[in-house]
Amino acid sequence: MENLKRLFENNRKIVEEVTADDPDFFKRRAGKQEPHFLFIGCADSRVPIETLTGVSPGEMFVHRNIANQVVSADMNLLAVLQYAVEVLDVKHVIVCGHYQCGGVKAAMGTESYGLVDYWLAGLRDTVRRHSGELEAAASEEERFKRVVDLNVLRQVYNLSRTPVVQNAWKRGRRPLLHGMVYDLHDGFLKPIALQVDGADKVRELFESRRQPIGD
Ligand code: CO
Repeated sequence: MENLKRLFENNRKIVEEVTADDPDFFKRRAGKQEPHFLFIGCADSRVPIETLTGVSPGEMFVHRNIANQVVSADMNLLAVLQYAVEVLDVKHVIVCGHYQCGGVKAAMGTESYGLVDYWLAGLRDTVRRHSGELEAAASEEERFKRVVDLNVLRQVYNLSRTPVVQNAWKRGRRPLLHGMVYDLHDGFLKPIALQVDGADKVRELFESRRQPIGD
């Protein structure tokens, strides 16, 4: 209960601080939202993306799930994506992974975690597909990081294959897709693939790593 109480207390303090400087701050933002970004990230509590990037309310549409997956049959993600691209007209769709991701770690191991095992099937596939490259990694930590990077790349590819993005590109090459990784240890976002505006670009990204992309 103490922790919950803290939420309300902090909320009240923040509202007081913000409105002391700018009395209409919340009122202005209660109207229409016009975000430039759709953020697809991991549900992990250590990735407070709005705080890290300094965006204000109304600037970023957010979807999060375990290990930032873009699964073509995920109605939740598809509805968010379609709304963001076709109604809100976002210019940028960002897939953001993070190092020390528990979901990625689970997909790399053999232990069973219940439902999440089904959710991470695609990620296990990525690990298997890149096994040669991963076995060559200098250390277990490097291998872990590499899977996080590859997972982001794979999800950017998956995004590029969705009908929502394909149709948008046919109409005028928006949105741009971006992949990045957040490093919990230093707080920095690391770009993995930026300004992707066509399926060939994603293919190039995989090929530059000498790895077959497959389907
Ligand atoms: Co995670």
